[in-house]
Amino acid sequence: MGRTEEILKELDEYLMTNLYPTHRIVVREARDIYVYDVDGNAYLDFMTVVTTALLGHNPPGLADAITETAKRLIAGNGYNWYTEELLNAAKAVLSLFPDRNMYNKVHFKLSGSEGIELALKIAKRYTKNTYVMYLMGGYHGRTYLTGSYHGMRRKEYGPLPPGTLIAPFPYPYRCPFGDMPPEECGKAAVETIEYYINYVAIKDVCCLVTEPIQGVGGIVVPPKDFFERLKRVLDTYGILLIFDEVQSGMGRTGTTWAFEQFNVKPDIVVAAKGMTGGLPASAVVTRKEIASAMQLNDEHSTFGASALIMAAVKATVDYYNMHKEELLSNAKRMGEYAMKRLMELYDKHPLIGEVRGLGLMIGIELVKNRKTKEPATKETSDICLNRALKRGVLFVTSGWNGNVIRFAPPLTVKQEHIDKAIDVLDKSLGEVEREENIK
Ligand SMILES: Cc1ncc(COP(=O)(O)O)c(C=O)c1O
Repeated sequence: MGRTEEILKELDEYLMTNLYPTHRIVVREARDIYVYDVDGNAYLDFMTVVTTALLGHNPPGLADAITETAKRLIAGNGYNWYTEELLNAAKAVLSLFPDRNMYNKVHFKLSGSEGIELALKIAKRYTKNTYVMYLMGGYHGRTYLTGSYHGMRRKEYGPLPPGTLIAPFPYPYRCPFGDMPPEECGKAAVETIEYYINYVAIKDVCCLVTEPIQGVGGIVVPPKDFFERLKRVLDTYGILLIFDEVQSGMGRTGTTWAFEQFNVKPDIVVAAKGMTGGLPASAVVTRKEIASAMQLNDEHSTFGASALIMAAVKATVDYYNMHKEELLSNAKRMGEYAMKRLMELYDKHPLIGEVRGLGLMIGIELVKNRKTKEPATKETSDICLNRALKRGVLFVTSGWNGNVIRFAPPLTVKQEHIDKAIDVLDKSLGEVEREENIK
């Protein structure tokens, strides 16, 4: 029995397992795009810890920054005292924003979910309105509140919290209003949202929270003009637009923020994952006028914004800023290359219903039948957790029906890595089609 098997056997005994379907590997270390297990096997990482290892695992400078800080100061947070690391991280994160009139204040929390919850609290205080709007298929975390918005799991959390409205998201491949061109679908979604604002929440809405591209929901890219239209309506009613860029932020889509590609400036942005290098942090960014709705003692967190975490954020953002042009142009180039190669797979494999994405945030939606679009859920999971894994590539599923393969390598990915990952997909898809007689 290898070390992997030994450890897995014991883990199965002790852990509250299977809370999430995960790859049955035991990881020992990771560098750039490679992950190594305890038996020395190497895997190409196309899931990047749900897009966290955005700059590749352990980018230069990160481990040193953490080690140097750890030798001086470990316990502590950004609430009981200040540190220079907090100042440096705040400056670094704000440097990522193109418009300093819109984005000049930041507050750090420990996770994406907590960041979203803070953004909602700020919006409630600032507008003095109560309803929160959220869009179907969006994912904002698994705290009790954010988890309750999560369509796939809502039943387990019981009814929605009072004052929550869920409106449709324009998912072009499966438009909730029927088959229509993407722009029409987006227009119908905005009209429905305005209807809800007027007739369900009676204009008492503080904010609408949405991902620019739904990640866990299946890499769903809305029509290009959707957010422009939406923002115009929200502005009419004084409703804040909160963008959850936890997954899409810091270069993943080929621009630092996905919102830059939708010609819209959200009022509050929540960032996390890629900006942290892997340590627990999220940043809630907004403008002074909105931020000042929060007062002393309104927030606390025992571990939040510790020097160690802040040093990691600064090192990660510094590395990104230093290599920004080459990282972004690689994300665009490799994204286009991957899309081209994936479209070749689309022509060859009936199991693929759609390939979509921006930059290196790509989704491959699998269906049993292209006409009926019946989700190929079991097949998607089998490819990610078994077939691709056995061939040395890590992919993770997403989508409401678990039938979308996320294709999310680090921004440092090379063409040879993409070729290998696509060859593995090609073989795995072919096997499933033959076994399940999918034509
Ligand atoms: C878009 C988005 N928002 C929020 C979260 C929640 O972040 P966390 O798991 O750090 O709470 C995630 C995590 O996957 C996410 O993808």
